[in-house]
Amino acid sequence: MESEIKVSPSLLAADFSDLRRELDKINASEADWLHLDIMDGVFVPNISFGFPVLKYVAELCRKPLDVHLMIVQPEKFIHEVKALGAMMMNVHFEACPHLHRVVQQIKESGMKAGVTLNPSTPVAMLTDIIEDVDMVLLMSVNPGFGGQKFITHTLQKVRQLRELIDQRGAQALIEVDGGVNSVTAPALVAAGVDVLVAGSAVFKAADMKEAIHQFKILRR
Ligand code: DX5
Ligand code: ZN
Repeated sequence: MESEIKVSPSLLAADFSDLRRELDKINASEADWLHLDIMDGVFVPNISFGFPVLKYVAELCRKPLDVHLMIVQPEKFIHEVKALGAMMMNVHFEACPHLHRVVQQIKESGMKAGVTLNPSTPVAMLTDIIEDVDMVLLMSVNPGFGGQKFITHTLQKVRQLRELIDQRGAQALIEVDGGVNSVTAPALVAAGVDVLVAGSAVFKAADMKEAIHQFKILRR
């Protein structure tokens, strides 16, 4: 099946001393979305940036915002994420005992709802929610840090998820996050991924625009 791959660069790997320039480059690129990683030091062992910073990012960025919350009780922040003008809000399966309710609340707010799985969480956990979500974000590293090594088992999870989505006739997109680069991206796309998140591979590239372009020309 021919379908266009979406690219969602992760701002976590950007040069924060010159955020305006980084966002100008993203705006001028073929990137489809901008991926924003919010951490709380509790759900993951790191803290990134919060809403006061993201308010300015949202003002400067012309791409739809793909927000990834690596926090406990993400439902508390639906209003704040919506206020940024975000297109997509991704919450972790592992952080939401009442996931169905949270997904409904995100959609009622007018955003698209994404559910994220840690590397050790099986795809089968989504069996009863797959028809309700707009996207599934598979972590291909343990969340919390950029620049980590891709966990190869993710390829199998992508294939399982593609099968579940196709079986149900569900509409969910498949996004993968962590260690996505010129080596892992072609294999991910072949396995059935729709959206590639890339931090280091985009922001640390000698030519950001070209790095994004190389992901954009992948076809499954
Ligand atoms: C990790 C974040 C990722 C991270 C990816 O917890 O969710 O979005 O920025 O970074 P790279 O692409 O460098 O692995
Ligand atoms: Zn992320």
